[in-house]
Amino acid sequence: MRFTVAIDGPAAAGKGTIGRAVADAFGFGHLDTGLLYRAVGARVLRGERAEEAALALTPDDLAHPDALRTPDVAQAASKVAVIPEVRDALLEFQRAFAHRIGGAVLDGRDIGTVICPRAEVKLFVTASAEVRARRRMDELTGRGLEADYDTVLADVRARDARDADRATAPMTAADDALTLDTSEMSAEAAIAAAIAAVKAKRGD
Ligand code: C5P
Repeated sequence: MRFTVAIDGPAAAGKGTIGRAVADAFGFGHLDTGLLYRAVGARVLRGERAEEAALALTPDDLAHPDALRTPDVAQAASKVAVIPEVRDALLEFQRAFAHRIGGAVLDGRDIGTVICPRAEVKLFVTASAEVRARRRMDELTGRGLEADYDTVLADVRARDARDADRATAPMTAADDALTLDTSEMSAEAAIAAAIAAVKAKRGD
């Protein structure tokens, strides 16, 4: 059985939480595609050229996801993500994952529009920049990293602008996506809405 759930939206809106919960509920695989861009960004911070870094990625690059979940790597990721050759290099891996037998959930910025335009379920998960900055702060401090609200908010806004305004595969909701604004929604309510959308499509 192939079944693809595409989840897009800006940083810290809740895509990962919802994506993991949907994958667990249905036994689907889950791919956080942001990690691919972060892994390329991390290689660039170590002095590699972005296009070459994207072609050279191996599973080892993704073996320590927490090391990629830092503000510096996030900014580097959104800078390499504007380069069409980088996006091209990562496309086939994402499509193959989306078509895996047993079902797949992918979260990112262009899943419903470019990677899987025929995904059975598309969600666009968003929230205000302030709420997202607060969540990212809590996540960073929870992991023992230093974080200052104004800096995190500025980072979120800079990344939103770069991701939404780029020429290739900009972050945008697909026409047929269900939008979930999680600004004032609990994680449980957002997860329930996502699961209901999958069940409705599957005819469960
Ligand atoms: O989702 P996450 O915040 O980890 O993504 C890091 C960066 O990778 C984003 O700011 C975005 O620039 C880029 N990205 C992308 N397309 C995706 C996933 C992430 O351009 N499908």
